[in-house]
Amino acid sequence: MADNTLLNVEELKVYFYTYAGVVKAVDGVSFDVRRGEVFSIVGETGSGKSVTSRALTRLIPSPGRIVGGRILFEGKNLLEMPEEELRKIRGKDIAYIFQDPSSSLDPLFTSGYQIAETMTVHATADWKNAWKRVIEILKDVAMPDPHKRAKSYPHELSGGMKQRVVIGISVSNKPKLIIADEPTTALDVSVQAQILKLLLDLRKKYDTTVMLITHNLGVVAEVSDRVLVMYAGRVAEIADVYSLFGEPLHPYTIGLLKAVPNPLKRIERIEPIPGSVPDMINVPSGCRFHPRCPKAMDICKREQPPLVQIRGGRSVACWLYAEKNS
Ligand SMILES: Nc1ncnc2c1ncn2[C@@H]1O[C@H](COP(=O)(O)OP(=O)(O)O)[C@@H](O)[C@H]1O
Ligand SMILES: [Mg+2]
Repeated sequence: MADNTLLNVEELKVYFYTYAGVVKAVDGVSFDVRRGEVFSIVGETGSGKSVTSRALTRLIPSPGRIVGGRILFEGKNLLEMPEEELRKIRGKDIAYIFQDPSSSLDPLFTSGYQIAETMTVHATADWKNAWKRVIEILKDVAMPDPHKRAKSYPHELSGGMKQRVVIGISVSNKPKLIIADEPTTALDVSVQAQILKLLLDLRKKYDTTVMLITHNLGVVAEVSDRVLVMYAGRVAEIADVYSLFGEPLHPYTIGLLKAVPNPLKRIERIEPIPGSVPDMINVPSGCRFHPRCPKAMDICKREQPPLVQIRGGRSVACWLYAEKNS
């Protein structure tokens, strides 16, 4: 493991044991997150992005279970850590920002109280100092009129302001990793860019690492250093953002990029990927993308392609490339 690796996920598997059958939501996912980067996970709805991100601190609700893999955070396996020890990491070293800020905030407490409370729970400040820090944090998240807003209840704040409070809570303990799961999806388009910029600014200011989960390729292009493309519970490819957009390798990534408007090529037609995301109980044999893949070969129907490292620190799980390497 390289020195700058913060998080190392190996062969993570999360299954949901439902009455209808076993949902293999995450089925052998591996990746590294390096210190200081914005690492994005992109994929269609239902591809397993949220389950992956929640599994990192074992936040998987029943009937879900983490059935395999290792999650090394600064070298320690979070999957083997006692719950009590993990609770100290959750919200402190690893902080989450979810899509809907309303559900992350308690309607009964002021925003200032909720930021202060996070600091006292993890004992990074006592109450008196926590209150002082609240105003600084609200300034850091560019909250208008921070003194007034510290005393506001969630219902008195706009969606964008609420997300700023949630982000303030997430940075209050100076986390090593912020996991932001669709942090702008529930917000007005006009504030989405501001919130993304804020996340980037805070990453620098708080010297932290950001894992960004999104279905939006525009967001990915704007803020990411490296990107993991996920399809039906598996990694399709991992690349730095320039390589990914400049030269996508996996047929699924190529399809995804064709399915979004490109402002530089307005005349070009948008081509949606034919077919739909598979039923996660009866996933296709072999490569899960093969029924939708324009380049599918015989082997793709039979055997799951391994994630192979190729040039430039990229990896891809596709038989087109695995063959060339073997
Ligand atoms: N509580 C649950 N019970 C059963 N299946 C679930 C549950 N939560 C998630 N899943 C399944 O896991 C898969 C991945 O979900 P999720 O990670 O939320 O997708 P994404 O965040 O990429 O949209 C989906 O097929 C979903 O149906
Ligand atoms: Mg999700």
